[in-house]
Amino acid sequence: MWCNIPRATAILLLNVSGFLAATAAQAQGSGDTETESLYRQRCAGCHEAGVSRAPTRESLGQMSPESVRFALTSGKMFLQGTSLTQEQIIALSRFLTGKDAQPPLPAAAFCEAHHVSFDGALARPRWNGWGADLSQSRSESASMAQLPADQLPKLEVKWAFGFPGDFRAYAQPAVVGGHLFVGSAGRKVYSLNADTGCIDWVFDADFPVRTAISVGQGQRGWIAYFGDQHANAYAVDAVDGKLLWKVRPEEHPEAIITGTPTLAEGKLLRADLIQRGICGSQSKLPLL
Ligand code: HEC
Repeated sequence: MWCNIPRATAILLLNVSGFLAATAAQAQGSGDTETESLYRQRCAGCHEAGVSRAPTRESLGQMSPESVRFALTSGKMFLQGTSLTQEQIIALSRFLTGKDAQPPLPAAAFCEAHHVSFDGALARPRWNGWGADLSQSRSESASMAQLPADQLPKLEVKWAFGFPGDFRAYAQPAVVGGHLFVGSAGRKVYSLNADTGCIDWVFDADFPVRTAISVGQGQRGWIAYFGDQHANAYAVDAVDGKLLWKVRPEEHPEAIITGTPTLAEGKLLRADLIQRGICGSQSKLPLL
């Protein structure tokens, strides 16, 4: 049974393209007939039948093999994976994506000089967290944007970033101190240079990251806060992406954090909307 739950976070659909794109060969699969018939019996009934929210076969082909395996062993397809052997899960991930492992990010994707500074970050152009302010107005003031209205018609695409091995990202990016922070369905959080799109750092979360990122200055420097699909809340050093702490404030095994943590007065951190299970209740929970 599937149900509709209003999403707390903005959904950003990205076309994974360029050097990070899935190749045409991935979408074609391996031609392994045994695995193909397993896919037809166990998966295609939903994934090729227009079941609500189920990614299409083509979208599955854009995922990294690691993410398909993760979905079947610990993620959203855990139940479908319980009746499969480890070998079948590996074969299905190879069949669907056309590869055994996601290639590492090319060195050219990373920033050459790593001089991340947050000096005066909150006086520079920014969009922090999900709602941009404490009342989650989602309205960017002139002092936040620092972009005169007469410049708006002149805006052009400067760079684009394709999430490697993902066919979707859940939440909008945050921009603070000249850096852009964004989580991914593939269990990564990226810090990108806002000017060039090069990668400052990549953080490996335990589960897909559905929330936007809130950045604040704490006793331990500038910190990026977010939550994941297993209700883990993280604090990561915004300069180098190192984990500072991780807590799971909700015991329900299917709890997930869908709301972006909100920072208030530098100390109160809350993650609104923790969902229990696919159709479960939602609650507001103080984290720290
Ligand atoms: C009963 C229907 C159903 C069956 C059977 C099914 N799926 Fe899914 N699958 C879904 C739905 C619905 C979603 C989207 C869930 C969501 O986004 O909350 C999904 C999502 C996925 C995802 C993406 C997970 C993510 O993290 O976004 C993968 C990968 C996947 N399925 C693989 C499979 C494979 C492989 C099989 C066969 C072994 C399979 N599914 C069988 C309904 C199904």
